[in-house]
Amino acid sequence: MRNIRELPELLISQIAAGEVVERPASVLKELLENSLDAGATQIQVALDQGGAQRVQVDDDGAGIVREDLGLAFARHATSKIGSLEDLEGVATMGFRGEALASIAAVARVELVSRARNAAHAWSLAAEGGAPREPRPAARAPGTTVAVQDLYFNTPARRKFLRTEATEFGHCDEVFRRVALARPDLAFSLKHNGRVSAHLAPQPAEARAAALLGAEFAAASVPVDARAGPLRLHGLAGTPQAARNRADAQYFYVNGRFVRDRLLAHAVREAYRDTLHGERQPAFVLFLELDPRGVDVNVHPAKTEVRFRDARGIHQFVFHALKRALAPSAAESPVSYATVASQGSAIQAALAMQEPVMDYRAAPAPLPVSAKAPPLGYALAQLHGVYVLAQNEAGLVLVDMHAAHERILMEKMKAGLDAGAIERQRLLVPAVFRAEALEVATAEDNREALEQLGLELTVAGPNELAVRAAPALLAGGDVAALARSLLAELREFGAAQVLAARQNELLATMACHAAVRANRQLSVTEMNALLREMEQTERSGSCNHGRPTWYQLTLADLDKLFLRGR
Ligand SMILES: Nc1ncnc2c1ncn2[C@@H]1O[C@H](COP(=O)(O)OP(=O)(O)OP(=O)(O)O)[C@@H](O)[C@H]1O
Ligand SMILES: [Mg+2]
Repeated sequence: MRNIRELPELLISQIAAGEVVERPASVLKELLENSLDAGATQIQVALDQGGAQRVQVDDDGAGIVREDLGLAFARHATSKIGSLEDLEGVATMGFRGEALASIAAVARVELVSRARNAAHAWSLAAEGGAPREPRPAARAPGTTVAVQDLYFNTPARRKFLRTEATEFGHCDEVFRRVALARPDLAFSLKHNGRVSAHLAPQPAEARAAALLGAEFAAASVPVDARAGPLRLHGLAGTPQAARNRADAQYFYVNGRFVRDRLLAHAVREAYRDTLHGERQPAFVLFLELDPRGVDVNVHPAKTEVRFRDARGIHQFVFHALKRALAPSAAESPVSYATVASQGSAIQAALAMQEPVMDYRAAPAPLPVSAKAPPLGYALAQLHGVYVLAQNEAGLVLVDMHAAHERILMEKMKAGLDAGAIERQRLLVPAVFRAEALEVATAEDNREALEQLGLELTVAGPNELAVRAAPALLAGGDVAALARSLLAELREFGAAQVLAARQNELLATMACHAAVRANRQLSVTEMNALLREMEQTERSGSCNHGRPTWYQLTLADLDKLFLRGR
């Protein structure tokens, strides 16, 4: 063992740089954020060899006055905060006074800056952490920072850099994150001298379309919700537009791109009923709140945050997104008065597993004179699977099982909101091994569990027993259900789990209770199904995210038959 001694300044910076400067993309992120903080309106990025050779950012922001130039490279020197109070309410991207110092410790940096009312610019170079004397230079107001030869003096780290294409890919992603957040600013990106993006200031939707593709913009719904000081806005991809990879998920907190477990969970929950399996939603969402309500000083790259009122934020994001994603099949309000009563009667009949129906008891056919409802009137049933209906636009095709499943789910959900899930006592309690923490969670959350239809008792220090389970699930693997509920209760607390797991239970129940394929339906039953769909939230897709109905317009059909009209 050696004696304890103080490290030289450069080594300290290099160690610190390890946290901040992971790869060229991290340099780009820091430079872009500095330009944003400087109030730039035009930002130009130039990269060479994936950024390993050069990362350069030009802006037209406030610039740095000559006296401050040297300090820009000093560690813990910042113009952005001055006190703990400032830190707690930080509204800028930067606040540590760490980025340029770290970058200068592991690369050759040149800074050219001209403050708005300075006579000319000043340039300052730093290499391996040591800045030289500032020299007069020429440029318009604003700042250019050029970072060359990343890790030139730390060869071990340089070896960790990946191929040019990979490093450029990371830089491109950083660029996209910043450009998505600031559609009001102009950006350009060059790689090895070739322009790879050029963005003029534009509305948020247009920026999203430019960066994520027109398909994303076309298959997404606007989100804009407020609750007191909280606001969530942006674009949420529809369930039908979900992808196999989570490669288009952008969540920002006060303009800062974050990867946050709490927010990710809230989003996942909002999509839960409508997404199939592992499908990943696409979204660009901005959460705005009082900066004092969020701590950004938790992660070296500032990509994680901590909320003061985590539960409240979760609830807000979850509900705001869910509401935005839940339009019903009916575009415009239609009078259902004439069909409502028979609708519910037929619905009750449909919900039964009984295949036999008394058609004579069915009410009279629908009035033809009334304005046709959005999904139209039923014509026939196809192969016991699809309902065919005629509406104003043309032909409507409905997957009857999927549609019915969705309707049942939404109905049960509404019923549940009013009370608790119906329970059934198990003849033989299902005993399972549990950890001490699970046992404690079960005891602490007895009430919430009961509302969810589960009654758990402690059977031993490491054993829990399920004594009652949701009536419709009593035959299933109730121990597994109890386990995952306990895990979620522990992590997110009773209130949220109550809302979230409910939906999953309901989806399973609905699937069993929904009308099966190959059941003959009368025209009246089919019409009732259509009317229920129109009145049901989220009826456009089933509980697994597949569409429940499809419109073929007359124009579509004409095209099919090569018929000009
Ligand atoms: N593009 C720029 N325009 C104007 N001033 C800049 C620019 N880049 C850096 N600065 C000045 O240099 C200082 C140091 O920048 P640096 O990125 O190292 O720290 P910071 O942004 O204050 O904090 P952080 O380490 O969290 O990024 C900033 O506080 C700012 O005053
Ligand atoms: Mg900074």
